[in-house]
Amino acid sequence: MKVMNDSRLVIHQSTPHDKQSSFAEDVRAGLTARPKTLPPKYFYDDLGSQLFEAICLLPEYYSTRAEAEIFHRHAAEIVSQLSAPVGVVELGSGSSVKTRLLIEAILARQPELHYQPMDISASILQHSAEKLLGEYSRLRITGHVGDYTRGLDSIVRRDGESLLALFLGSNIGNYTPEDARSLLKAIRATQRTGDGLLLGADLKKSLDVLIPAYDDALGITAAFNLNLLARINRELGANFDLANFQHRAVFNHEAGRIEMHLVSRSEQTVVIGALDLQIEFQSGETIHTENSYKYDLPQLAALAEETGFQPMKTWLDGERRFSCNFWLAS
Ligand code: AVI
Repeated sequence: MKVMNDSRLVIHQSTPHDKQSSFAEDVRAGLTARPKTLPPKYFYDDLGSQLFEAICLLPEYYSTRAEAEIFHRHAAEIVSQLSAPVGVVELGSGSSVKTRLLIEAILARQPELHYQPMDISASILQHSAEKLLGEYSRLRITGHVGDYTRGLDSIVRRDGESLLALFLGSNIGNYTPEDARSLLKAIRATQRTGDGLLLGADLKKSLDVLIPAYDDALGITAAFNLNLLARINRELGANFDLANFQHRAVFNHEAGRIEMHLVSRSEQTVVIGALDLQIEFQSGETIHTENSYKYDLPQLAALAEETGFQPMKTWLDGERRFSCNFWLAS
């Protein structure tokens, strides 16, 4: 569905009805599974998206700043990996704050740019698109709200243009290795040989740094995690008592990932009205809400080769916490 159209901005959105029924089905499937799980994509309702923006400002959450540092230092070199003119596609664009450094570097090399951001949050996508258009008169935006798969299907390119896909902010970390491979192959399938992918991936590091990044002193990440239950209360008429669940972040060494859980503080029963469902919790039982995989450089190079890309160049921040990887569609 096309929801907005002026001369420089078009936003496509899948219908709200689809969204609501899949949320209900996914909540039912996740909370009746053993162990209980909820998909992390449901963090990002309007409130959850704002909480994530707040996480990105936390002193403990280094990855946003580390990636921005890389762009501040190397944006011109990054965009010069492809010859002009380029179009840009971004999966999980969010507020597009860091992307503007790349947009500026591209606009320094060519007269105009077609930017195609995709995000799960309509409000964030629309707000950031309008802001970008206000600042860059030579920019045109076609946004896609919803699933990346639908967005990928509708990517367009102008004659003679190569496409640079952006998958930043360690969003890849929220996919299992198998799902990450499938998504990267799906991105590759939309590209031509000679197009590029810029992948932002968080690196393995000391738990002294990693754990506070996912369990900050202010409790913003805890609120972000608990908002999943609040969202089920709001949208599916449930009666989760948020004070009876606790945020937990742990590192799973075997899998190489941070895991976020919501731990039941007592034995309790929760009713989800819209699902006609009653869920029992043991004291200490958890709902697994997110994985955030951490990579090392050889793993990233292997991932590129496995998914149809040639790893060309990697930039790191000064503290070597975060990597930006330019891969060529081979
Ligand atoms: C969006 N994603 C890359 C974040 C991450 O670091 O895995 C989500 C997040 N979860 C807790 N804090 C941030």
